[in-house]
Amino acid sequence: MKEENDKTHPIDSVSPGETDHADALVEQRKADHIRINVEEDVSFRNLTTGLDKLYLMHEALPELDFDEVDTKTTLLGKSLKTPLIISSMTGGAAEAHRINMTLAEAAQEVGIAMGLGSVRAAIEDQSLAYTYQVRSSAPDILLLANLGAVQLNYGYGIEECRKAVDICQADALILHFNALQEAVQPEGDGNFSGLLSKVEQICSRLPVPVIAKEVGWGFSELTASRLASAGVAAIDVAGAGGTSWSQVEMYRAPTPRHARVAGAFVDWGIPTAHSVRYCRQGAPDLPIIASGGIKNGIDVAKCVALGASAVGFAGVFLRAAVSAGVEGVVDVAGAITDELRVAMFSSGAGDIAALSSRTLHIRE
Ligand SMILES: Cc1cc2nc3c(=O)[nH]c(=O)nc-3n(C[C@H](O)[C@H](O)[C@H](O)COP(=O)(O)O)c2cc1C
Repeated sequence: MKEENDKTHPIDSVSPGETDHADALVEQRKADHIRINVEEDVSFRNLTTGLDKLYLMHEALPELDFDEVDTKTTLLGKSLKTPLIISSMTGGAAEAHRINMTLAEAAQEVGIAMGLGSVRAAIEDQSLAYTYQVRSSAPDILLLANLGAVQLNYGYGIEECRKAVDICQADALILHFNALQEAVQPEGDGNFSGLLSKVEQICSRLPVPVIAKEVGWGFSELTASRLASAGVAAIDVAGAGGTSWSQVEMYRAPTPRHARVAGAFVDWGIPTAHSVRYCRQGAPDLPIIASGGIKNGIDVAKCVALGASAVGFAGVFLRAAVSAGVEGVVDVAGAITDELRVAMFSSGAGDIAALSSRTLHIRE
């Protein structure tokens, strides 16, 4: 996300002698984001994803063989063994590279998709490109590059988008929309005006699909329909109820006042379950990715029943990667898949198409 862009130390305006210092600042910010996400409580206080209030009807006689329950699916033309995505997280620093390699190896092993963190650091400084280059370890996965959409208002255009995709050898580009995060950062890029037409230009000129993604506060029906009309190929809701980026910014805030303002937004946003519904209504023809606060395979099953084509996890996989490496991530992805299969079996859905036609019920 915003990590590479500190206006008090702009990376793109340093002289060669200052480069080491600027790199150190980027590295520090990346490390801060990872450390805060791993060590601090960055969850919403009271707001939940809304998935806890929904349930799939239990079918005691599913008329299925459990061994034949099939989780495979396709997204943007690539097959996934199970409808999971490791959501965009990091890059741009040595530690971030280790995490990306860990996540990519695991994604290849279990056959799921993966997003890289904002590639801006590598566009500003080519020597950081290696931190995003995981393709050799994950030749078959659906791999997604990532840039902040707002950068299109700060000098970025089709060339930078192409470069981001090329650096990562990605199959698609995520443009993330993090207006609230920018607004609570003292150094944030807050000019989101006139952005839609720039997104439209990128969608029409980039040779790979563009995915619009929030970062933890969700998309409304209005925004989803605007993004669909701009030509995005998919929407990742990244709704509220999981990692709260206003909380992350609160822990990084330089003054008590900044911390107070960021902290006030702890329960802001559109719960993930609601945002999936809004996006289905606003962009009925697009694949919707559900993410934000997804805990387990039962949540995944509910999201698919709500209309999601795939489901993303960020914080859960980050903590597994940091604490237990490739094996840890493979293990977590395996457990989530097992939970999904049991949920499918127990609700009488033998495959993802059947699951997506299941009705969700509201718990009284
Ligand atoms: C350490 C970290 C870094 C992140 N960086 C990015 C990023 O660069 N681009 C982006 O679109 N989202 C980024 N995110 C947001 C996640 O992709 C995701 O939308 C959000 O954390 C909500 O998912 P969760 O509740 O499963 O963690 C980051 C998340 C984490 C934990």
